[in-house]
Amino acid sequence: MSRHGALMTAQGLVKSYRRDAETVHALRGVTLSINRGQVVALIGPSGSGKSTLLNVLCGWEHAEAGQLLLDESLGASKPEDLPWGRVALVPQALGLLEELTILDNVLMPARLAGGVKPMLGRAEELMSEFGIDHLTARYPDQVSLGEQQRTAVARALLLSPLVVLADEPSAHQDAGWSDVLFAAFSRLAAQGHACLIATHNPVVWERADTVFAMRDGELATHNTRSAAAAP
Ligand SMILES: Nc1ncnc2c1ncn2[C@@H]1O[C@H](COP(=O)(O)OP(=O)(O)O)[C@@H](O)[C@H]1O
Ligand SMILES: [Mg+2]
Repeated sequence: MSRHGALMTAQGLVKSYRRDAETVHALRGVTLSINRGQVVALIGPSGSGKSTLLNVLCGWEHAEAGQLLLDESLGASKPEDLPWGRVALVPQALGLLEELTILDNVLMPARLAGGVKPMLGRAEELMSEFGIDHLTARYPDQVSLGEQQRTAVARALLLSPLVVLADEPSAHQDAGWSDVLFAAFSRLAAQGHACLIATHNPVVWERADTVFAMRDGELATHNTRSAAAAP
């Protein structure tokens, strides 16, 4: 296991969607690494392929060409075989289960991993940090969209995954809550984990260790703070 190296490396990922007679080329050969200890921002216009990339990286969708190399610490060589809790996604559409309370939504990864009780304290801690601790017994349709989104982020962070893929996690947040969420992602990265955040929020681009920019299914430019700071 490399201490500082890449947790995930994508090489030449290609993904297209067929829509009737039309083919949409969502990813046209995307190559990138997600390194330990880093918060990585993924920017780009709407429709440029950010969500598709995150969905392929977490194994929700399959690339039709290219390779995805996973560090052995992730416990699988293919994303679809990843054990629960190693890689977590905050989906753009949140994906909360409407029939579960806010608390049970946050606890969902623990339930799938086989043990809710040991994670109750951690769930309460995250919910308090994200200002949703007074909403434990409510259902998603009884809280605001911003609170639903913070629930989805708390759910993703519950098991302290090695890689968090967050799809526009501050889209429904004000500046204060965006800062709180970013601080939580940064803290996780500082422990040697990594976060890839698709975002339109300039504050995230400024604070991220690396910024990848997507355009029309390709990574257009790439800026690494440490490289930029080098003489
Ligand atoms: N399930 C799908 N079926 C058809 N086209 C899709 C699907 N998902 C995404 N696309 C298309 O792929 C392109 C990239 O979309 P997406 O990855 O959602 O971009 P972004 O997240 O940057 O807004 C867009 O043209 C979008 O319309
Ligand atoms: Mg998107």
